[in-house]
Amino acid sequence: MKWAEGRSGACCGCWFALVDIIDVRRGRLAAMPIETTNDTVILRRGHQRAEVALKGATVFSYVYAGKERLFTSSKSSVKTADSAAVRGGIPICWPVFGPPDTTARGGLYSKLKQHGFARTSIWHFSEHDSKSTDDAEIAFFHLESHPETLTLFDRSFKLVYEVQLRDAALVAKLHVHAPADSSAELPFQALLHSYLRLPAGIKPARVRVAPLGGLTFRDKVQGNVESKEDRDVVDVQGPNGEVDRVYLQAPDTLQVTYEGAEGEMVVKKQSLADVVLWNPGPDKGAAIGDMEKNGADKYVCLEPGQVGSFVELKPDYVFATKDEQPEDTPSVGQRLQKLPGDFINMHESEEEGLKTRLHHRLGPEFEIVVGKEAAGGSVAFDSASREQLSPDWNINSALSKWWRPNFEGFMYPYMPIHVSTPKEVKTIFLVDLPEHAVLHVPKNMKLVALPLFELYDNAIRYGPALAAIPHLLSKYDVEIV
Ligand code: BG6
Repeated sequence: MKWAEGRSGACCGCWFALVDIIDVRRGRLAAMPIETTNDTVILRRGHQRAEVALKGATVFSYVYAGKERLFTSSKSSVKTADSAAVRGGIPICWPVFGPPDTTARGGLYSKLKQHGFARTSIWHFSEHDSKSTDDAEIAFFHLESHPETLTLFDRSFKLVYEVQLRDAALVAKLHVHAPADSSAELPFQALLHSYLRLPAGIKPARVRVAPLGGLTFRDKVQGNVESKEDRDVVDVQGPNGEVDRVYLQAPDTLQVTYEGAEGEMVVKKQSLADVVLWNPGPDKGAAIGDMEKNGADKYVCLEPGQVGSFVELKPDYVFATKDEQPEDTPSVGQRLQKLPGDFINMHESEEEGLKTRLHHRLGPEFEIVVGKEAAGGSVAFDSASREQLSPDWNINSALSKWWRPNFEGFMYPYMPIHVSTPKEVKTIFLVDLPEHAVLHVPKNMKLVALPLFELYDNAIRYGPALAAIPHLLSKYDVEIV
């Protein structure tokens, strides 16, 4: 999610900028970037601060540019001793959203409460994994299945929640892992129930959310009736002020604006298909036990989630997506040796370099980056285990080598006699895939599977290196499975 303020808030002269820099430095010297209390973890970066309750790993406060960006009811407790979910911030709904279907999958969810148990469980803060980098303060929280969760929900799981406080962003990623030794698949819904605090003086009725036109939504106020949204810009004004809608297959970027006022929030999500728009209205809001007085007037929930359908995670499988990756390496120096999909450094071994890049490019990783000046969420995979869960790349013999003698694009399958130092060498390897593999492809890239006959004798379309592959493979007995 991204908060972008109106112009008035963005204006500042040099003098203020200078004070800013001094403050940032003082801030860093004065306070530890990640600090723990009995019940919370506090991340600090310059003027930014985020606070996470161990209960539910709930981010309950995010201060950017001196303003609180999340709503958390003052009547709600973030203490671990209090068993209720935090009313506000970003509670994690998992493994179900809403009241569970008690009859589904032989009653698998029948003992769960509304929105599941992740938001009320006490998560473990992993000091060991948490770190300060040039870009962010990063805190990791873990929740694994244990005897108590197994009596409620008979599935093994491992959740890792990563909270990143960047200079101008709060990024939240939920990693979901079905352990390899699980006896059955892990079917779940997930939702980051984000309570977006409205600017002072703005009530939910003035909030507009776009673009939602053409989407199918389930209206929970009308008993889950499914309809098509005919407005591109949707307001938050339902019967008695109540709006509770699940928009299916929503766009990854949603804008929140205010009628008659400047400023906007942008909610960004990745890999979570749906989004829930919720505000209970003043009457139902007042009836919520842990809601502060007039609390429902102070926020709108815009909740990225995977709730229209369940994710069915097989043992040792991941539910994942990847960030966009740059398509090319910018520096010519780095291009001296090139591997399929990437370049390696001069002193790196080709096989190991290829393995590392295959892990990096196609191994599991899943995140929602919620943007500049942001708070929000994702479902992601535990990057610590990325290599472990990547396919076991078996790099076979090199099929061919191609040399590029000069700065032109053409490559030769031999080193031309007049060339002393090629500008680039490309080696094509045969890589075995295991019987089962999940490949994770960045959104801006494509994984293309081509039949050999498409490449054969087709240098005009694919170039000589790829068109030669069927010839080079002819010495192998290919076992088709
Ligand atoms: C929203 C649901 O996500 O959460 C609403 O769509 C629900 O139906 C709301 O009322 C709050 O739920 P809870 O369990 O935190 O009171």
